[in-house]
Amino acid sequence: MTLAGLNFAPMQDDDLEWVAAQDALLYPFPWTAGNFSDSMRSGYGCWTMRDGGERVGYAVLMMVLDEAHILNISVLAGRQRQGLGRRLLDHLGEVARQAGAHQMFLEVRPSNVAALALYARAGFETIGRRKGYYPAAEGREDALVMRSRL
Ligand SMILES: CC(C)(COP(=O)(O)OP(=O)(O)OC[C@H]1O[C@@H](n2cnc3c(N)ncnc32)[C@H](O)[C@@H]1OP(=O)(O)O)[C@@H](O)C(=O)NCCC(=O)NCCS
Repeated sequence: MTLAGLNFAPMQDDDLEWVAAQDALLYPFPWTAGNFSDSMRSGYGCWTMRDGGERVGYAVLMMVLDEAHILNISVLAGRQRQGLGRRLLDHLGEVARQAGAHQMFLEVRPSNVAALALYARAGFETIGRRKGYYPAAEGREDALVMRSRL
């Protein structure tokens, strides 16, 4: 699998419908098109990742002073385990570094084995746990807070 044709572009209004549709496929409690649109209007880094012109992933990055927070990072179900998540994560790290961030944070469900493996492999460490942070099928689920130094 070659990823030579990979590129990243700021999310546009005409990506919103597609992004929200993918989110609904990937998450039990997805973001709406309005949530992504609000992120764009708030000045967050909203990205799509394309492989040979085809959209294969997307992400949202919020900067707070010299900290970067990953709010969403997603790869299409049919394109997972091909190194794309790592490339998207590396792109966010590069964007954050260029914007002056020294650390990058994220929250993740302890049940999200794929994401936890990706982050651990990329050098993130768990620094805390937020009780009942996420809605879940039955009640709430904690979030693990992870950090990587840039
Ligand atoms: C999490 C996610 C972005 C990973 O994307 P991906 O393109 O599959 O990740 P990569 O192929 O770059 O994998 C990088 C490493 O992560 C680990 N990993 C990824 N998926 C894994 C899985 N299902 N099981 C175990 N390890 C996994 C592996 O260590 C992998 O390296 P390897 O393939 O060389 O062993 C993707 O699974 C996804 O979009 N999931 C749904 C949305 C989501 O949960 N996002 C995160 C919210 S916090």
